Amino acid sequence: MAEIIDGKSVAAEVVEGVKKSAATLAAHGVKPGLAVVIVGEDPASQVYVANKSRTSKECGFHSVQHTLAAETSEADLVALVEKLNADPAIHGILVQLPLPGHIDAGKIIQTIAPAKDVDGFHFINVGKLATGELDTALVPCTPFGSMLLIERKHGKDLSGLNAVVVGRSNIVGKPMANLLLAANATVTIAHSRTKDLPALCRSADILVAAVGRPEMVKGDWVKPGATVIDVGINRIPAPDKGEGKSRLVGDVEFASAEKSAGAITPVPGGVGPMTIAMLMANTLVSAYRHAG
Ligand code: GUN
Repeated sequence: MAEIIDGKSVAAEVVEGVKKSAATLAAHGVKPGLAVVIVGEDPASQVYVANKSRTSKECGFHSVQHTLAAETSEADLVALVEKLNADPAIHGILVQLPLPGHIDAGKIIQTIAPAKDVDGFHFINVGKLATGELDTALVPCTPFGSMLLIERKHGKDLSGLNAVVVGRSNIVGKPMANLLLAANATVTIAHSRTKDLPALCRSADILVAAVGRPEMVKGDWVKPGATVIDVGINRIPAPDKGEGKSRLVGDVEFASAEKSAGAITPVPGGVGPMTIAMLMANTLVSAYRHAG
């Protein structure tokens, strides 16, 4: 049976480290500041944003949350981001996605100052990651956290290892592939048009599932001994728990995959907590860079 990778405890260690460094920085007169912006009332987004704000307070950050009505205009949101860009007390800006349909999310992301873009979604940060300029980039939180879990298992040099990333999103799949490549893994990105996905997955020493399809990756897709990182968070009906009940599952069928994998992240308690921890780490790094 596979080792279960305890993302919750690794995330707690990261947050503890951030808290200590933030206290040191604060003693030198710089308190890391994170602004989280949410537009509208998407229930999942509200939960994520509340967790981000709570953890940032735990870290001793200056934590600001802007909650805007769903009807907020694109121009007003641009104006808020520009105000935060110019605010010296703010080192990290996160605009929660998805945004309401009348707002161009791409335009908003490109308005965020790259040095404060703690999501790592701005073209400048995407380009830095793609070209290996990791010392000055801000890296997207979910792949960054996944990479930390992979490093703890395999070390920083993944030479000779085959990594397969299932999913090609800008938020997870593509940055994940670039991080693995920067660590010398041999990387393949698979997606809905890939031929014989099970066979490809079976070639992976490191398998990252980020497709948003509940339990799509089956146990017999997993190479014996492989490290499986499940980025999916899917809520599915659970009639066995009672009428109207639901449960969270990943993109990997955990019960079958854990029989073949060498190590695997659970859902919940795997990659999820790492995402918030890395947001804190990115905000701290940004504050250090701003402090010079
Ligand atoms: N919505 C879902 N995941 C994310 C994320 O990582 N960042 C932002 N800004 N919004 C999200």
